[in-house]
Amino acid sequence: MTKRATAVDISARKNAEKLVVITCYTSTMAKLLDGQVDILLVGDSLGMVVYGMDSTLAVTLDMMIAHGRAVVRSSHAAFVVVDMPFGSYQACKEDAFHAAARIMAETGAQAVKLEGGAEMADTIRFLVERGIPVMAHVGLMPQYFNALGGYRYQGRNDTEAEIIREDAKAVTEAGAFALVLEGVKETVARQVTAETPVPTIGIGASPACDGQVLVLDDMLGLSGRVPGFVKHYGQLGEQVTEAVGRYAQEVRSGAFPSAEFCYPFKKAPKA
Ligand code: KIV
Repeated sequence: MTKRATAVDISARKNAEKLVVITCYTSTMAKLLDGQVDILLVGDSLGMVVYGMDSTLAVTLDMMIAHGRAVVRSSHAAFVVVDMPFGSYQACKEDAFHAAARIMAETGAQAVKLEGGAEMADTIRFLVERGIPVMAHVGLMPQYFNALGGYRYQGRNDTEAEIIREDAKAVTEAGAFALVLEGVKETVARQVTAETPVPTIGIGASPACDGQVLVLDDMLGLSGRVPGFVKHYGQLGEQVTEAVGRYAQEVRSGAFPSAEFCYPFKKAPKA
């Protein structure tokens, strides 16, 4: 069995082979993706992708733990990171530790991810010093969308760019082993990647980063509207619609199930 990487291994990928990261929420997908990517991220984007919510804000710790456990159980090689949901870590570092400890103990994941810049540095340090590897997330932070004025890309001017650089510095000095950079201009991503001692993982943040992450359903063509930075590597939505359409038609016409799909099944003839 392939041994999973550790946070130390992931950190050592700075300026090396690009890190391939993808979101994953279910056992079915974990089995398909394991071995193909470096990191499976059980993102709180599952609130929108799996549960049809308008934002990630109502995602609960129990939801993250249930999906995290399914992904860990159905993968053997990937490094698994589970997002800390909104409200589980912002109030104080002790709350953050209790939530992160539950995620680590109940899912078996290798790390947690949390959103926030300089304001979260003390919390990150607190978790890391107590044995919990933390992936940080700065730039466009979906849990802050009410405060950021929507899902607009960040680093539009020198002031915004400076805030992102300061945030990246604060969270990595606090001990984050990797840094997600979401929705930032290439110039900002390049500068932050050059200044940051741990790998940067971009989403809508240009090829300047040390790795890339995409939301699985977006890149597979299973989501409706997707952000402009998403490339479609498949059109599975169309395939699902076509396959289920044929099934419905055959059930209605009586063509399914035909004799070959009824007990007793005929044995396949020997070759
Ligand atoms: O929740 C999520 O899926 C994420 C990625 C988009 C980085 O945080």
